[in-house]
Amino acid sequence: MTEIRPFEKKIWLSSPTMHGEEQQFVQEAFDTNWVSTVGKNIDCLEEAVAGYTGMKYGVALASGTAALHLCVKLAARRLYPDALPGNALAGKKVFCSDMTFAASVNPVVYESGTPVFIDSEPDTWNMDPDSLKKAFDLYPETRLVILVHLYGVPAKMDEIMEICRQHDALLIEDAAEALGASYQGKTVSGKCGSFGDYVAISFNGNKIVTGSSGGMFLTNDKADADRVRKWSTQSRETAPWYQHEELGYNYRMSNIVAGVARGNMLHIDEHLARKRQIYERYRDGLMGLPVSMNPSEMKAAPNDWLSCLLIDPAAMCRQVRDDKEPLYLPEPGKSCPTEILEVLARYNAEGRPIWKPMHMQPIYRNCPYVSAAGDCGEDIFHRGLCLPSDNKMTPEAQAVIIELIKKCFA
Ligand SMILES: Cc1ncc(COP(=O)(O)O)c(C=O)c1O
Repeated sequence: MTEIRPFEKKIWLSSPTMHGEEQQFVQEAFDTNWVSTVGKNIDCLEEAVAGYTGMKYGVALASGTAALHLCVKLAARRLYPDALPGNALAGKKVFCSDMTFAASVNPVVYESGTPVFIDSEPDTWNMDPDSLKKAFDLYPETRLVILVHLYGVPAKMDEIMEICRQHDALLIEDAAEALGASYQGKTVSGKCGSFGDYVAISFNGNKIVTGSSGGMFLTNDKADADRVRKWSTQSRETAPWYQHEELGYNYRMSNIVAGVARGNMLHIDEHLARKRQIYERYRDGLMGLPVSMNPSEMKAAPNDWLSCLLIDPAAMCRQVRDDKEPLYLPEPGKSCPTEILEVLARYNAEGRPIWKPMHMQPIYRNCPYVSAAGDCGEDIFHRGLCLPSDNKMTPEAQAVIIELIKKCFA
C-alpha cells in the first residue's frame, strides 16, 4: 500500500453539517428584527421537534443542560413539593446512568441531591436493569431515575420503565445524544425523547441536529410546558411590572440559535442516513480484527451519532490511565484505545475515549455506585473508543482511518 499521509483537512469526531436553510432562517430573524428569545424560529423549532418525537409540547432552551435542570426541578416539585429551589433534592438520592456526560448528572447537584451511579450493561452500554433493581433494594426510598441513551443507542426501555413503575419512581430521559433513535419494545415503543416523564435533548454543536448550542424540554403535559417556559424566562408573573413569585432562570433559547436548529432539523433524515453508512462502513471494514462495534438491541434503531469500537480483552496491550494521562506498552498483534487515538491524531483525525464513568470522576468519587455484574462501564471505558463519525467524512477518508486502525493491530 502507498504511504498514508495525514489528512489535509481535519476529520472531526462529529462537527456541524450546515445546508443553507440555517442561514436563511437566521437572516429572516435579522430582517424582521426578532433578535431575541422570542420569534418564529423558536415556535417552528418547538413544533418540528415535538412533532418528530411524537410529543405534544417542546420548549426550546439555551442548552440540554438547562433542559435537564428544569426536568429535575419538575420531578422534585412533584415528589417533594415543600422543598426549596436550589435545595429541591436535599437529602435525596437520584439513580443516574454512570457512563455518560457529566451534564446528565450535574443538575442533581444543582438541586443539592446525591447521584447514585448505576452501572452499564454490555448489550447497549446503557443503564443496567439488574443494577437498577439492586439500587432500589439498597435505597428503596429513591423516587427518581435519570437515564441516558449513550451515543444514540436506546437503553433497555421495557425493563427500565417496568422497574420505575414497580418502585413508583419518575423517569427523566436524557435523550441529548439520541434524537432520531427509536425503540420498539413490548410495553413501550416510539422515538427516543418520548419515554420519560420529563425529557431533555441537546442541539449542541456536535449533535446530530445542531443550533450551534441549545436544548429542548419535551412533554405531553401542557402545565409542565408552561411551567418550564415561565421558569426559563425568569419566572415573570403576568403583571404590568416585573413581578416574581418563584425563582427563575435565564434559560430560553435565542431566536438566532433557533434559526440554525430549525434549518438543520429539516435535514435530520439525511444526517441519520449518513451516520448509518459511517457505522456500517466501520463494521464491515474492521471485520476480522479483534474488535466489535457499539452494540444495540434488536428492538432498537440507534441514530448512530457516534460509531464506537471495543477491543477484545485478549487483544488489549497494557494500558493504564491516571486522572490526567494515559500510558501504554505497544505489543505486536495487540492495541489499546490510547494507541489508536494517538495514531488517529497523528493523521489529523479526531477520535475520543469513551465517556469516563461518573463514579470514576474525582468530583463524584464519593457518591454511591451500584453494579450488579461487575463494573461493565469501567471495562468499556478501558477497552473502548469513539471513532471519527463526522457526517462530512468521505468513504475514501474513512477507508484510510480503517487502514490506520488495522495497522495498530499489525
Ligand atoms: C448525554 C448528554 N447529556 C446532556 C448533555 C448536555 O447538553 P448541552 O451541551 O446542550 O448542555 C450532553 C451533551 O452535550 C450529553 O451528551
